[in-house]
Amino acid sequence: METIRVQKLHKEYVKWNWQAGRNEPFTEDMTLFTLTTPGSTYALAALESGYLCHVYYGKRTDDEDLSYLLHLGENPYTPKVNSRDMGTFMDTTSFEYPVYGTGDYRESAFMIRDSKGTAAVTLRYKSHRITDGKPVLSQELEDCTVRLPATFADKDEAKTLIITMEEPRTGLEAELYYTAFTGLDVITRSVVVTNKGTEPVDIERILSTSIDIECSEYDFITLNGSWARERFIERAPLHHGKQLVDSARGESSHQSNPFMALVSHNADERIGEAFGFNLVYSGNFIAQAEVTQHKRTRAVMGINPLDFRWKLESGKSFTAPEAVMVYSSEGIGKMSRTFHDLYRQHLIRGEYRDKARPVLINNWEATYFDFDTDKLISIAKEAAKSGIEMLVMDDGWFGHRNTDNSSLGDWYVNENKLKGGLGHLVDEVNKLGLKFGIWFEPEMISPDSDLYRAHPDWAIQIEGQPMSQSREQYVLDYSRKEVRDNIYSQITAILESANIEYIKWDMNRQITEPGSLKLPPERQQELWHRFVLGVYDLQNRLITDHPHLLLENCSGGGARFDPGMLFFSPQIWTSDDTDAIERLKIQHGTSVCYPASAMGAHVSDCPNHVVGRSTPFATRGNVAMVGTFGYELDITRIPEADRAEIPAQIEQFKKYNPLVRKGDQYRLADIFSDNTFDAWMFVSKDKSQAVFTAVQVLGRPNYHSRLIKLDGLDPGRKYTSSLTGEIHTGAALMNCGIAVDLSGDFSSVVIEFNAV
Ligand code: DGJ
Repeated sequence: METIRVQKLHKEYVKWNWQAGRNEPFTEDMTLFTLTTPGSTYALAALESGYLCHVYYGKRTDDEDLSYLLHLGENPYTPKVNSRDMGTFMDTTSFEYPVYGTGDYRESAFMIRDSKGTAAVTLRYKSHRITDGKPVLSQELEDCTVRLPATFADKDEAKTLIITMEEPRTGLEAELYYTAFTGLDVITRSVVVTNKGTEPVDIERILSTSIDIECSEYDFITLNGSWARERFIERAPLHHGKQLVDSARGESSHQSNPFMALVSHNADERIGEAFGFNLVYSGNFIAQAEVTQHKRTRAVMGINPLDFRWKLESGKSFTAPEAVMVYSSEGIGKMSRTFHDLYRQHLIRGEYRDKARPVLINNWEATYFDFDTDKLISIAKEAAKSGIEMLVMDDGWFGHRNTDNSSLGDWYVNENKLKGGLGHLVDEVNKLGLKFGIWFEPEMISPDSDLYRAHPDWAIQIEGQPMSQSREQYVLDYSRKEVRDNIYSQITAILESANIEYIKWDMNRQITEPGSLKLPPERQQELWHRFVLGVYDLQNRLITDHPHLLLENCSGGGARFDPGMLFFSPQIWTSDDTDAIERLKIQHGTSVCYPASAMGAHVSDCPNHVVGRSTPFATRGNVAMVGTFGYELDITRIPEADRAEIPAQIEQFKKYNPLVRKGDQYRLADIFSDNTFDAWMFVSKDKSQAVFTAVQVLGRPNYHSRLIKLDGLDPGRKYTSSLTGEIHTGAALMNCGIAVDLSGDFSSVVIEFNAV
C-alpha cells in the first residue's frame, strides 16, 4: 500500500457568472497529494495558481481523489476565474501553510519582515519530492550545527513528502515536510525556510503546523497545571475565536504542555474522533485552535511568536521544530496509544530505550542538602539489602552548596561533604552492588559561584536592567558556545572521575530579562530559541560521547516533560509531587500523550512532603510501578514494616515492567471527573497477558464493590484472574467488568490476567 500518492488532475467546474446571469465552465489543473496511514488520510492540493490548499484530514478513505472537497457546493472562489473575489478566497480557503498579510485574517503560520520593513508574504508551490524514511532536522548556527529533536524512521517505516514553496518578492523558499508513518496513524510536519534572495529577511513567525479542519463542534483538550500538579486535563467545547495554550517562559513549563487535542463531543477513551498535536520542542510555544466565521477550525502549533524574530541572511536556512499529529477514530485512548508507540519506537533513543531501567533510590526527599559520604553509604547499604540497583546523589554535592543559594556553575566536588572525593563514594557504592547516578543543573549559575565571579556576563541579562533572581539563581546564556563548552568540560571531568552511569539533568527556574550580552541588537529576539538549541546541543554531545549513560531530564518537577526532551532522555521526572493520590491525576494527564515508560515515578515517605498525606506503602508502590520506579526516602529511617515490603515491591515491579514498557495502556476510569477512584491496565501486544490496577481515593460507606470494565483484551480468548483464579472471556471482562472490592482510604489492588 502506498503511503503517499501523487495525482496530476485536470478538473472541470462550472461557475455562476453574476454579471452574465449564467453558468460558465472552467478548468483547473492541480496536483493532489494523499498521505495514508493505517487508519487516517491526509490530503492536500497544489492548485494551478500556486496555492497549497488543505483538502482533508481524518478517518481513512481509500477514495483516490478527494479534491472535490475543495469546492464543496460553493461558488468556487478560484483565483483563476474569480480575481475580483480574491479577498474571499484568501479568507475562506483551507490553506496548508497560511501566510500573513495577503487577506487571510485567520491565524497565520508564517510572517516575515523584509529589508524595507514590510510584512506581506506570498507562498507559491514550486515543486515536490518524496523520500523513503525521514530526513534529520538540524539548525546551522555560526559555530556549530544543532540536530533538532524529531521522530525518526527507517526507509521502510515512513515516507516523506517535501513540498517546496517560493516567495517571489524576497526569494525565500519554504520546504514543507510531511512524514506519513506506515504502521501508525501519525503525520509529522516541519518547515525549513531558506533565503535564496540577496537581502536579509527577518522571520517574525514560523509555526510548524497549521491545519484547517471541519470540526467546530469539537472539544479542545489541553494539559495544564503548576508545580506539583503538572498536566491536568482540561476539556472545553470549541467556540468562535481563539483558544490557546502557550509558554513564554523559556521552557515548555509546568503551566501548559505543548499538546492539544481536538475531539468530538462524544469522544471518550473508547469512542469518538480525536486529533492530537504535540510539538517536539522544549521552549516557548503556542498551541491554538481558532473557530472561524464558517465554523471551520484552524489548529496551529509552533514556536511562540511573542518576542521571536530570526534574522535570515542570504543563503541561510531556519528549521522550525517538528509537530506530531495523531488521528484516532477510536477515542482518546487509541490516540494516546499511538503517541506512546510513536515515542517508544521513533523518538526515544539509546540503549535504555528497550531496556529495563535500574531501580533507583534518590536522596533528595531523604536528606535534601544535609548529607555526606557516610550518610549516602548508609542509604546505599540498606538499599542493596532490599534489591535496589542504583543510588542517585541529588542536589548539593558541589561547590560549597548547603542550601539552594549558591554554587550552580561550580561543578566540582565539595570535599567537606564528600570526604575522600567522588571516586571513593562511587567505589563504595559500586562495591555494594549498586550503580551510581548524579544530579546536575547545567543551565544555571548562582550569583555566589566562582563561575559568576569570573564571568558575570555569562548570565542571561539586559544591560542596565536589574536581574531577577529565582531560587537565588540566574540562567546561563546558552546561545554562547563558550558557555556551553565550559559547562560541558566540567561535566565531562566529573564523569571521567568516577563510574557514573546516570545523570539527572535539572532546570529550576525560567527565563527573565531575555537578553544576551553577546548577541548583536538585531539578533536579541533570537535568544529564546538559541537558548533551547544550546540545551539540545549539549544534551546531544552528552549522550553521543557517553552512549551508556542513562539520562533523566527534570525541571523543578515536570516542567519540561515534552517530546523534545524525550529525544535525549528515555525518562523524565514527572513531578515533585510524589504523593500516590496526587500522582493519579499527574500520571493520567501525562499519559494522554507520553508513555509510562518515560515517567519518573518514586515511592516516597509519609506524611508526603508536598501534601502531608499518608497513604499505604503498597499503594505508593502500585502507583509508582507504572513509571520508571524507584525510591525517594531515607531507607535507614522508614518504618520497618515499610522497609520489609520493598523486596516484594521490586519483584512485582520487575514482573510487570515489560508490560508497562512495551504494552498498550488503557485508562479505565476518569479521575478528573470522578475523583473517588482510578483504574488502568497494561496489555501485552499479543493480548496474552495484562496487569490491572485500581486505586480507591476515599472509602465509601455502604457501597458494594465497584464493577470496572476492562479493556484491550481479546474478546474471544479466556483469561485467568490472579486474584480469584476465575476464568472469563475477554468479552465478559470488557463488556461486563470485574468486581473490585477496595476497603479503606487510599487502598489499591493489582490483578494479573493471563490468557489460558
Ligand atoms: C527539583 C527536582 O524536581 C527535585 O527532584 C530535586 O532534584 C530538586 N530540584 C533539587 O534542587
